[in-house]
Amino acid sequence: VIAASILGATGFTGALLTEMLDRHPEVALEALTSSSYEGRRVTDVFPHSRVAAAYVAYAPDRVAGSDVVFVCYPHAEAHPVVAELLAAGHRVVDLSADFRLRDASLYPKWYQFDHPRADLLTEAVYGLPELYPEAIAQARLVANPGCYPTSMLLAALPLAREMKLELVVVDSKSGVSGAGRTPSDKTHFSAVHDNFRAYGEVGHRHTAEMLQELETAAGASVPVSFTPHLLPLDRGILSTLYCRPSASQGTFEIPPEDEVRALFVRDYSAEPFVEVVEHTPSLREVQRTNYCRLAVRTDPAAGLIKVVSVIDNLVKGASGQAVQNMNLMFGLPQASGLESVV
Ligand SMILES: NC(=O)c1ccc[n+]([C@@H]2O[C@H](COP(=O)([O-])OP(=O)(O)OC[C@H]3O[C@@H](n4cnc5c(N)ncnc54)[C@H](OP(=O)(O)O)[C@@H]3O)[C@@H](O)[C@H]2O)c1
Repeated sequence: VIAASILGATGFTGALLTEMLDRHPEVALEALTSSSYEGRRVTDVFPHSRVAAAYVAYAPDRVAGSDVVFVCYPHAEAHPVVAELLAAGHRVVDLSADFRLRDASLYPKWYQFDHPRADLLTEAVYGLPELYPEAIAQARLVANPGCYPTSMLLAALPLAREMKLELVVVDSKSGVSGAGRTPSDKTHFSAVHDNFRAYGEVGHRHTAEMLQELETAAGASVPVSFTPHLLPLDRGILSTLYCRPSASQGTFEIPPEDEVRALFVRDYSAEPFVEVVEHTPSLREVQRTNYCRLAVRTDPAAGLIKVVSVIDNLVKGASGQAVQNMNLMFGLPQASGLESVV
């Protein structure tokens, strides 16, 4: 049995992770930490829960027996505690962005803070199980990917590996739970309900992860233009990617659709949580599951390959992917504890 603790267990990702790990057949929960709800029972804060535990304030001795610690803090808040946990001998899955970028010099630009642990950035493994399964299995520190980058990278990687891409335009729509538990003027029910808006149209932070992993897969940098939107619903991300292969002799040659789809089938046929489908997928098909569904279309007249990608931002985009990573780290089947709906 794996002893696990969750830091920041009352946030959206931490609360879902609590439910998932409580039901996981190979996991025993040690500590659920919270500063705001210290001493309160999980069922007092989340009446729908049946987890019989109370929140404790984080201190190193509270998690001393844990084989793995999940850190569900906001970015820039996670890295000091992650460093402390690693030094104490724990393995860590960090759900924040603090260890996703390998190059420390990118943090001031994308996250507005100086990263003090370039050594740990080099060591951390980007936790997309379909991309780095062997490295995740060995890792002390797994940087769980962002929700938008998960939906985007699973859709773009088979193309980036196979052909030179001139541009990838990423048009993503997310449910409001992607913004975390604390509401703002823009995520308040009254602002979101019966409404729809774009935000962060240029330079959204998640672009950095997309660029990093696409460049690694392609062996050369690929320009990415990413626009997120806020949907008037709770959970799910639908991303439509518009991928332009490089022109050869001035014309865009788009391979036949079945050939493009075959690249995706080849890359994902052994993956338990990526499904390449023929129909156009919608969010309802993946909400409360750890699946990503992908549909591939070609538009030769426009010189484009389009990929539609759907995930649940809190499951495959966060807590479910974190469990999938833990399963890999401890030699369990990837789907262990992830079969049931959450
Ligand atoms: N929401 C998503 O869909 C999603 C997807 C992928 C990744 N992520 C990432 O996962 C992390 C957690 O996201 P979330 O949506 O669960 O966030 P959240 O709902 O805002 O929860 C974050 C939790 O961290 C704790 N915390 C510790 N230090 C804090 C501080 N200085 N300021 C505020 N809270 C602090 C808080 O719990 P206490 O006050 O009880 O201690 C809070 O409940 C973030 O880094 C986020 O970017 C989120």
